[in-house]
Amino acid sequence: MSSTSEEPIVQPRNDAFLDTALRPSTFDEYIGQETIKNNLKILLGAAKERQNPPEHILFYGPPGLGKTTLAHLIANELGGTLRSTSGPAIERVGDLAALLTNLAPGDILFIDEIHRLSRSIEEVLYPAMESGSLNIIIGKGPSARTLDLPLPPFTLIAATTRVADLSAPLRSRFSGGVYRLEFYSEDNIADIVRRSADILGAEVEESGVKEIARRSRSTPRTANYLLKRARDYAQLKRSPLSAEMVTAALNLLEVDELGLTPIDRKLLIALMDRFNGGPAGVGALGAALSEEPSTIAEVHEPFLLQLGLIERTPRGRVATAAAYRHVGRTPPADLNEKLL
Ligand SMILES: Nc1ncnc2c1ncn2[C@@H]1O[C@H](COP(=O)(O)OP(=O)(O)OP(=O)(O)O)[C@@H](O)[C@H]1O
Ligand SMILES: [Mg+2]
Repeated sequence: MSSTSEEPIVQPRNDAFLDTALRPSTFDEYIGQETIKNNLKILLGAAKERQNPPEHILFYGPPGLGKTTLAHLIANELGGTLRSTSGPAIERVGDLAALLTNLAPGDILFIDEIHRLSRSIEEVLYPAMESGSLNIIIGKGPSARTLDLPLPPFTLIAATTRVADLSAPLRSRFSGGVYRLEFYSEDNIADIVRRSADILGAEVEESGVKEIARRSRSTPRTANYLLKRARDYAQLKRSPLSAEMVTAALNLLEVDELGLTPIDRKLLIALMDRFNGGPAGVGALGAALSEEPSTIAEVHEPFLLQLGLIERTPRGRVATAAAYRHVGRTPPADLNEKLL
């Protein structure tokens, strides 16, 4: 193709732009999670009919499964404005007060990483969620007084990878529902890969789609990432995007046939070598791998549990027979006792 003076020679494309391009914005485009979608359709449909904002919603589950996407999708379905923030960004009561008082009727407030809100901020959030008013105490001692500001009707959507860190009172105030996102089936991931390939204008052979789906950790974000990396690889090899190209590209990325990364494998091997197969706590595993224990618990562990490579026992994590086989080792004789 020849370039004219209006056409830039290098197309302004980058991954950040493409990530939003791949984000589904309607229920039809959002693949899988059928139970959640069915519940949300009722919640939103009924609220729309009554011309009320839907009640507050909480999404939780491992990273990359589509929590933020659902928040945007809901705002889109309601034709409302999404105001996005996150737990760590709300440092003071005043930050939350400013956010809430600036909402327009029907706005959706999205708080990502809600488990990182401080207790004092949570306490201001409760009445705002419950009775639509903001109660703040101004001043100290005998001259302290309570300010009671009515708020416009709004919906709070919150997301977290660590639902156990939310206080029970906060969790119970999501009266629109607390939804746990599940890992996706291989068929669903294959559909997501086909949809993304279509949007990216990448031609992927069916064998390539299957191979990406198999290695995507049952996670849409990973599927999109692997698709893009495999596409780069095939492009430079001047080859169609086949299973063979996917395998070669993912071998280069050190993603193995189960979708495990070097850190996942290191975790399994540390559990076997340093802790004799376990049980070991995430803190100890984190220290052994020089990783944050929270990264182990939120990013690596959920998928290893899902694959049955580790098990959670009351005394800590234990490597299963499948884990030993995956790294080419023989399971220890006392494995069953460890799993008790
Ligand atoms: N159900 C789905 N169908 C199609 N694509 C999806 C789906 N869910 C997620 N995606 C894709 O995966 C990407 C990651 O999803 P998202 O950012 O919503 O994950 P998340 O759960 O918010 O993760 P984190 O916990 O890291 O914030 C999205 O940009 C989107 O392109
Ligand atoms: Mg998110």
